[in-house]
This record gives sequence, structure tokens and C-alpha cells, in this order.
Amino acid sequence: MPIVKNKLFLLLIAILTFTGCSITGDSSLFKSSNKPDASLFARIGGLPVLTKIVDEFIDKVATTPSTKRSFDGIKLKTLKESVVLHLCELTGGGCKYEGETMANSHRDAKITEAEFDAFVSMFRDTLNQYVNTREKNELLKILAPMKRDIVTPI
Ligand code: HEM
Repeated sequence: MPIVKNKLFLLLIAILTFTGCSITGDSSLFKSSNKPDASLFARIGGLPVLTKIVDEFIDKVATTPSTKRSFDGIKLKTLKESVVLHLCELTGGGCKYEGETMANSHRDAKITEAEFDAFVSMFRDTLNQYVNTREKNELLKILAPMKRDIVTPI
């Protein structure tokens, strides 16, 4: 019965769509709790998830009053690419970050402690949407010591 088969097929598509399993492949963007021994990069979900996190996060810090000042006039597309490479390398993804050191790239912006803290808090919020607690904490732990290179002492 072709009509019954068609109905079953449509029902299957509806179930897949509403349960978040897309046959077009966006399922990689859901929080992953995969292999515990894999690299942090892999557990985050690799480049598709990292790119999405950075894209959303940079748009947020570049438009939020407490942090936007430093991003005025900065090419966000280039910055996003650079930050993805940096995070990919730091989390064991095998990328090669060839940008400036954290001290050099942030010196001129004279970033305050309040701006740094607001930045991290927004990063935590973005991570909450895409990764699990273990991965979020591991990544924040890697970034925390960079504060001394990024914040300009008063
Ligand atoms: C742990 C925290 C941070 C990390 C890991 C980080 C990482 C980076 C990276 C990888 C770059 C690209 C450098 C290059 O391509 O040579 C960059 C540039 C930049 N970052 Fe950060 N950043 C952090 C904190 C901040 C904060 C708190 C602000 C401002 C509130 C900020 C604002 C900027 C700006 C404006 C640039 C562009 C500099 C330029 O092109 O002249 N960053 N950051």
C-alpha cells in the first residue's frame, strides 16, 4: 500500500525532526557526552561545535556594553577564525595557532579586570549551551591563567 508507506515515512521524518535528530546532519551541535578518554577538543564536538561557540560568543562580547569597547573597529570574521584555531590547538585538536601571544594581542586594548570577568562570564554562558560541565570546566581552567597576560594592571 503506497499511501500507507508514505504516511509512515512522513511520520518518521516528523519524529526525527522533533526529537532533534536531523538527517541533514546538525546533530553534532547537541551537547555531547561521548568517549571520556577522548581529547577535550573531541569531547567538545570538534570544529563544528567550537566554531559555533566562538561565532556566537564573539558576537555577544562585541555587542554587550560591558565588553564591546575593545571590539570597535576589529574585523570579527578574522578574529573568530583566529580564536577557533587558538582554542582548537589548546584543546588538543591538532590545529596550529600562528597569531600573536595573548600579551601582544591585548596590550593596546588596556583590558580591565571587570571587562575580563564579564568576558569569562559570557563565555561560561555560551559553553553551557553547547558542552557538558566537565568540558566547560576544563576549558575555563585552561583560559584562567591567561588573565595575567590579558588584563592591564592599573
Ligand atoms: C582568556 C581569555 C582570552 C583569550 C583566550 C583570548 C584570545 C584571543 C585571540 C586568540 C586573539 C587573536 C590574536 C591574533 O590573531 O593575533 C584575540 C584578540 C583579541 N581579543 Fe582576546 N582573548 C581573551 C580575552 C579577551 C578579553 C577579556 C577581551 C576584551 C574584553 C578581548 C578582546 C580581544 C580583541 C579586541 C582582540 C583583537 C585584537 C586585534 O586584532 O588588535 N580578549 N584574543
